Amino acid sequence: MNSRLESLLTAKPRGQKIAMLTAYDYPTARLLDEAGVDALLVGDSLGMVVLGYPDTTLVTMDDMIHHTQAVVRGVQRAPVIADLPIHSYDTPEQAVANARRLVEAGADAVKLEGGVSHAPQIAAITADGIPVVGHIGMLPQSVREEGGYKIKGKTPEAAQQLLDDALAVQAAGAIAVVMELVKHDVARDLTAALRIPTIGIGSGPECDGQVLVIHDLAGLFPWFTPKFAQPLAAAGSTIRDAAAQYVAQVHGGGK
Ligand code: KIV
Repeated sequence: MNSRLESLLTAKPRGQKIAMLTAYDYPTARLLDEAGVDALLVGDSLGMVVLGYPDTTLVTMDDMIHHTQAVVRGVQRAPVIADLPIHSYDTPEQAVANARRLVEAGADAVKLEGGVSHAPQIAAITADGIPVVGHIGMLPQSVREEGGYKIKGKTPEAAQQLLDDALAVQAAGAIAVVMELVKHDVARDLTAALRIPTIGIGSGPECDGQVLVIHDLAGLFPWFTPKFAQPLAAAGSTIRDAAAQYVAQVHGGGK
């Protein structure tokens, strides 16, 4: 196993919470690595917050490779996990071929969406020696079929399906699982049931770690902030203000 992943893999038994953030470019990756994040995710959320698409479903393997390479150039310490985009892992064979491409781009692990339905893909990539992070709960690549970003696990049947998904992902060999928009008490129970760490997003505080889109943390996408995210900076306003000052300086005949 890649040594950069070591502290991530031992965090749960050590009782150490995992702080993960997304990054899509060199300077952000370098800043977040210097800040001490435990892992960086090159998420296909880049479709929205970097490329201006309405959702993640237009992101391609070429996009993911391009941004993974940029992130890897900025990192000295933190492991880099890269998303397999929609339709890049429809079959186990395709999943392995595309996971290899992300590893060639410098990723330490790959992430894919789906539980029981995608256990064969997780098992095939793992058998190829590539660490996999699962992703269950709300699956952004299915947002069009789902009709929006909705909380998961609201009924006993839905909670049982999530447990089945989580156990299938673990049994297939995943090293961790992202749980997105899972009802908080269900996320707590899944966290207790699993040996591998759970990384929550909008799933409450009782996961083994948390992941956020950096734009939501830094206030870098001020036009939309998910309800569960609390920005700790206003980088969007800072950039807009600096640009407005620059425009005023230049229009005023300054340097
Ligand atoms: O693409 C992404 O940024 C993600 C996170 C929301 C977990 O998958």
